Amino acid sequence: MNVLGIETSCDETATAVISDESGNLELLSNVIASQIDLHKAYGGVVPEIAARSHIETILPVVKEALNSAFPDLNQNEQWSKIDAIAVTKGPGLLGSLLIGGLTAKTLALVYQKPLYGVDHVLSHLLANMLLKPQPKFPILGLIVSGGHSQIVLFENQFKYQMLGKTVDDAVGEAFDKVAKIVGLPYPGGPSIEKLAGRGNKAKYHFTKPKLENPYDMSFSGLKTAVLRQVQALCGKDYNFPSSELSKLLDEQQQLDIVASFQNTAIELLVDRVEKAYQEFSPASVCIGGGVAASQELRRQLTARLPIKVDYLPMSLCTDNAGMIATLGYYSSQTCQPDDPRTLELQPNLKM
Ligand code: KG4
Ligand code: ZN
Repeated sequence: MNVLGIETSCDETATAVISDESGNLELLSNVIASQIDLHKAYGGVVPEIAARSHIETILPVVKEALNSAFPDLNQNEQWSKIDAIAVTKGPGLLGSLLIGGLTAKTLALVYQKPLYGVDHVLSHLLANMLLKPQPKFPILGLIVSGGHSQIVLFENQFKYQMLGKTVDDAVGEAFDKVAKIVGLPYPGGPSIEKLAGRGNKAKYHFTKPKLENPYDMSFSGLKTAVLRQVQALCGKDYNFPSSELSKLLDEQQQLDIVASFQNTAIELLVDRVEKAYQEFSPASVCIGGGVAASQELRRQLTARLPIKVDYLPMSLCTDNAGMIATLGYYSSQTCQPDDPRTLELQPNLKM
């Protein structure tokens, strides 16, 4: 079986084809048209610009996924190889979701393919089923992105227990906001990672919040603590515009701030994974979402967990359609397809 995946929930227009025809789940193509350069000037994603760019890019990107999966076939033959279409139904920006959604619905009707609307956040974790060997259940999953931070225990692909989640900002959002405070470009995670290795991570002590549920997390206080530290270093108070602060930081201060922040934010995640590992003894630990690209997260997990964790390539950590096709594949084995005329997009969908 071959599944075409379509993802347009935020600022990447992505398509992919996966196949189980070799006996393993294989990624035949994974096309990502990133809009990061369009949004950089605004310091974050502008929803209207994102939607307009998806409209321009989606059809060429669908074509490219088919061409790169089946290079020797013509367009009709390529479509005859596709057995199902999976599309992100939420969560995400409504204008962005609509473009992928409308495209997938139309293609499903025109080519008479079953359609599966899937949860973007769940798919971030289930992308790990593309690893070889596949992780074994029960899986302890850490899903960390620009919109989500949660720790989940999976009995199988669809049966899971939410152990904890952020009570305020997502961890990726904290990376993006701290990058802005210290004058680094969007997206903040990779910008911070690039510099953090040259800073002293022990220079500034940011306290980690304690919450009633030990698996819940909070990042808003950490972000504010970074802001207060930068204000103190620059000798400015709350009244000084925070967008002007970074100009007053010297290079060493900037490096030490991002190193100390990154270390604390990642420790906060790994503390919870380690505790859950001890409590639930899962067969595997998997991470998913844009922050799963963090080398510091991988380093700390490797250092603190008694089992080996396998990691996805970066192209399957940040938003991609390989993960959407993967969840569509599992949906096709357990659920009825969605009706392309009535499938609703859900910007606020929750796992
Ligand atoms: O999953 P994703 O591509 O989009 C959402 O669904 O949110 O995640 C994007 C987030 C951004 O906040 C970005 O700063 C963060 O992932 N990110 C990282 C790294 N690479 C991306 N955070 C920390 N370290 C990284 N290396
Ligand atoms: Zn995502």
